[in-house]
Amino acid sequence: MSELAINGGTPTIPDGPPAWPLRDDAVRQAMLAAYEDGDWGRYHGKHVERLTKQLVELHGIDHVLPCCSGTIAVELALRGLKIGDGDEVILAGYDFGANFRCIEAVGARPVLVDIDPATWCLDASRVEEAISTETRAILVSHLHGGLAAMSELRELADKHNLRIVEDACQAQGATIAGRVAGTWGDVGVISFGGSKILTAGRGGAITTPHEEVFQRAKIFNDRGNEAFPLSELQAAVLLPQLERLDERNGLRQQAVQKLLAECGELQGMTPVQLDGAGNAASFYKLAWLYDEQVNAQSRDAFIAAIQAEGVAIDAGFRGFVRRGASRCRRVGDLNHSSRAADQTVLLHHPVLLGSDSDLQLVATAIKKVLKAFAQR
Ligand SMILES: Cc1ncc(COP(=O)(O)O)c(C=O)c1O
Repeated sequence: MSELAINGGTPTIPDGPPAWPLRDDAVRQAMLAAYEDGDWGRYHGKHVERLTKQLVELHGIDHVLPCCSGTIAVELALRGLKIGDGDEVILAGYDFGANFRCIEAVGARPVLVDIDPATWCLDASRVEEAISTETRAILVSHLHGGLAAMSELRELADKHNLRIVEDACQAQGATIAGRVAGTWGDVGVISFGGSKILTAGRGGAITTPHEEVFQRAKIFNDRGNEAFPLSELQAAVLLPQLERLDERNGLRQQAVQKLLAECGELQGMTPVQLDGAGNAASFYKLAWLYDEQVNAQSRDAFIAAIQAEGVAIDAGFRGFVRRGASRCRRVGDLNHSSRAADQTVLLHHPVLLGSDSDLQLVATAIKKVLKAFAQR
């Protein structure tokens, strides 16, 4: 029993969060088959080729380049677009830390724009004022169950001759206005990292409709051998997961609806806005903005208490609001990014493939902790 459990009582979910990665028999079989045919120990084989073909089909796009991580995929995307010294790349003040570093890695300068507080993603209505003569690209991520306003961003990018890198590492198989996440950008980015909904422990890929971008990224990857490869074994375990991506995304979407309904209106906790018509998120994480003024307890106290109840909730990203002017240009206030960095709490996805009673237990734990805070 956890000493941190509210009132020292029994945690709401005594066994803790569901195991991740899933104990998936199809993945086990894929590993064994790769062992039997020897591909696990080869530089090249049929698995990476098959995975590439299936990702091309899923995205309805001409080119996919698998690689060793989502982080390297972002860099390959920028290099493929010829972003470099002296260029500016617009990104949200709240985003995955490595995205900022990837812009710096190619010699470009990040330009920070606030997020839309409803979706946790770059606010498209504030991008135009950030464009300068140096601006070459927009790097936009779909985050925490929120989806960026891609048709507005696409229109803006086309109007100003900018390129888009669309980071779908948290949104594999999601759709925005009927189009798969990653296909609105000039380059899309996905991750197969250890916590992702398609996981190989490590791995990633870029997707692009542009032959020349694909070729440039490939050339950067080529040091006489592939410098940032996805292995045969990684591809082998991804193939059976990819087959079930749509089905599992559907289950996660239903689970989020049920969970939020079960939670009802929560004091000082506002969930990410659920997707509009034609949109379907994939819920790698589910975000709430936690208000410590309302709950009179810090976010850290909330996270500690909720984890002690057996629920896998954690803090969000730190964002870039505190980055100095020597490293980036800031446009307008970044109040929502700042709030997101300080107040985001994220439910990790495995429980969204659990049973209805698992979801009820999560809702019960959240309500229990908030009620205990209110009584203190
Ligand atoms: C939005 C976003 N972009 C990029 C990445 C990087 O992916 P990887 O861990 O495969 O490097 C992550 C990982 O969590 C992410 O959440």
